Amino acid sequence: MHIKYNLKPASERRTEQFKPETNVGFGRLRTDHMFLMDYRDGQWADPRIVPYGPFEIAPGAMSLHYGQSIFEGAKAFMHEDGEIYTFRLDQNAKRLNRSAEIVCIPELPEDVVEEGIKALIDVERLWFPMQEGACLYIRPFVFATEDRLSVSPSQEYTFCVMLSPSGAYYSNGFDSAIRLLITERFHRAVTGGTGASKAAGNYAASLRAGKAAAEYGAAQVLYLDSTNTQIEEVGAMNHFHVLKDGTIIIPKFTDTILKSITSQSILDLGEQLGCEVRQETVMLDKFIADIESGEIIEAGGLGTAAVVSPVGSYIFEDHRVVTVGNGDVGEHTRRIYQVLTDIQKGKRQGPEGWIKRVERVAP
Ligand code: PLP
Ligand code: COI
Repeated sequence: MHIKYNLKPASERRTEQFKPETNVGFGRLRTDHMFLMDYRDGQWADPRIVPYGPFEIAPGAMSLHYGQSIFEGAKAFMHEDGEIYTFRLDQNAKRLNRSAEIVCIPELPEDVVEEGIKALIDVERLWFPMQEGACLYIRPFVFATEDRLSVSPSQEYTFCVMLSPSGAYYSNGFDSAIRLLITERFHRAVTGGTGASKAAGNYAASLRAGKAAAEYGAAQVLYLDSTNTQIEEVGAMNHFHVLKDGTIIIPKFTDTILKSITSQSILDLGEQLGCEVRQETVMLDKFIADIESGEIIEAGGLGTAAVVSPVGSYIFEDHRVVTVGNGDVGEHTRRIYQVLTDIQKGKRQGPEGWIKRVERVAP
């Protein structure tokens, strides 16, 4: 599909006021343009890059009422050659379609999704921030636009990609470990539900749990399965722990856990990380007992936004605190972070096809 460009004149772009060396935070800034594509009459059509701005949407648009909406999160990095490279974007395009299938959104053409994102990044390359750990955060999303009130799949959709020059997701960055709340009160997903998708509603459903976590001084909830016996994941990242022999364990992907591209990357990298990485069903009781006995020495979260987020302790609703190791960022967690971010930044060779250069083709 041919991408059309309707770009702002250079004099109207906000890059003039953007100071790339300032601390940009996570997800706050927007660039000048966005990528759009519409689904009508049974097909995706009209891929285009246009100025970033509000949508015109019918009050009866089905995404507003029934939440038929999905999203992705990916990142692009600047390498030492001054060029911008995407990281495993094909995997995001694939997972977008997995999410689409789960909430009955028509399949998107993955090549157009990827090409559209790269074309948008090309247009916005002056927005690349310079701070440590910086990236262009890529947020593709799809929402139902048909103006109809019956609960059924919409016949019309918009696919949009926006970019946000960003730094670390957790404001303390990598250097301080976070605390997670373990609770039986809230669940993120159930078998047969939408947990394996990035459906917008999953995140709306996590807000109440996030509030409870904050009341306990925790950054987020570590979700359990609906029987409260197994560890699943965190609201915006997968979970991992490290055994004292260095083995990294990630809970098995099920239909109640989002298949994280970061987790998959750590699994794929096993050898380069110099340790065994495997997936298991992680039982809560054993997990806690193993932390207390010193069998588990480190833990953390894995995600695009979160990268590798060290977890220093867990708190239960009775305020009991379980500290992992000495509660600080451990050497294994540091190594995982270093290897992953070195590959993303082009300082270390990653597996074939993970990193793709954004070509300079914009008019
Ligand atoms: N789990 C959930 C619920 C998420 O929202 C995310 C973020 O995308 C992840 C895990 C991590 O997935 P990824 O590494 O693909 O970003
Ligand atoms: C990401 O890691 O890209 C995500 O989508 C998580 C988001 C909820 C911040």
